[in-house]
Amino acid sequence: MLYPFLRPALFALDPERAHAFALAALDVAASTGLARLAAPRLAPDPVRVMGIDFPNRVGLAAGLDKDAAHLAGLASLGFGFLEAGTVTPRPQPGNPKPRLFRLPEAGALINRLGFNNGGVARYVANVRASGYRGILGCNIGRNAATPNERAVDDYLACLAAVAPVASYVTVNVSSPNTKGLRDLQSEAALDALLARVVEARDDLVQKHGRALPLAIKIAPDLEPDAIHGIARVLVARRVDAAIATNTTIAREAVASLPHGGETGGLSGRPLFARSTDIVRTLARALDGALPIIGVGGILSGEDAREKLASGAALVQLYTGLVYRGPTLVAECVRALAHCGR
Ligand SMILES: Cc1cc2nc3c(=O)[nH]c(=O)nc-3n(C[C@H](O)[C@H](O)[C@H](O)COP(=O)(O)O)c2cc1C
Repeated sequence: MLYPFLRPALFALDPERAHAFALAALDVAASTGLARLAAPRLAPDPVRVMGIDFPNRVGLAAGLDKDAAHLAGLASLGFGFLEAGTVTPRPQPGNPKPRLFRLPEAGALINRLGFNNGGVARYVANVRASGYRGILGCNIGRNAATPNERAVDDYLACLAAVAPVASYVTVNVSSPNTKGLRDLQSEAALDALLARVVEARDDLVQKHGRALPLAIKIAPDLEPDAIHGIARVLVARRVDAAIATNTTIAREAVASLPHGGETGGLSGRPLFARSTDIVRTLARALDGALPIIGVGGILSGEDAREKLASGAALVQLYTGLVYRGPTLVAECVRALAHCGR
């Protein structure tokens, strides 16, 4: 609706400023009731995944609301669930700016934000203050200063802190912007990490008396062998879902474009085929043992359908929102309605 008129003004701003401005505007719309008036009218399309009843299959991907500070406004866009984070135990500033780049010709972004966030205590306080009552995925990571040998301590600290407010928790081992993080995806490292995280989760379930599904978010830059290794671990450790995928370090599709050579993770249209392939390979390897949340390059309802056709049960959006605006959410919800997987 309005977004095609707003987009040129937003795109005239530095990308991080535009991001902050758009979220501030959404907050105002939510607090004045405008957001509710403008909210799309969507027929419910309920689906049960990870033991959770989702109102529809379209979620917000992690990274857009790192501190869970904009949940009410984001919920008004029609999402069936929101994933906020990545949050780390302690606050950290992230990488030096500039660290977020638009590649409009490709419908893409490159970011190397590096988990800039206000720490898990603030995150939980923000969730509590938000009044948001929908499904919330809490995406957790390690601080940049924590070596991989002690990464488990950071994941356990975040897990315990978010447990009272999370519908599910995502263990993020796939950001390319925290040095060494993706090494935690190797079969041995992932198994060691998940042994501890699953054990802690089981204790928290006892303590709080409610379920706390665990999802693992993986990178798109994995060979089929590695995907099969990950699948074996997820099944053995009885993880509840896999999220595929994070951003890619590949650059073939954008190498010749302005900003195409920036370091970081590439998202948006050039990621679609690669991340959908990962969903397909993972679905074959998992053979229905656990559900997949498909994310990467969804810029239309048709793209969302293809993620489901490839084996995803739910989808998430990020970069598509920057290029298409909030109408993309409703378009995807309608495209997936009654897909019946
Ligand atoms: C600016 C930006 C920041 C992101 N930050 C995170 C993050 O903190 N944690 C995470 O798991 N994924 C993060 N992502 C990855 C997205 O959640 C998503 O997996 C990826 O962008 C692919 O989806 P898309 O093509 O729809 O954007 C980020 C993506 C972008 C563009």
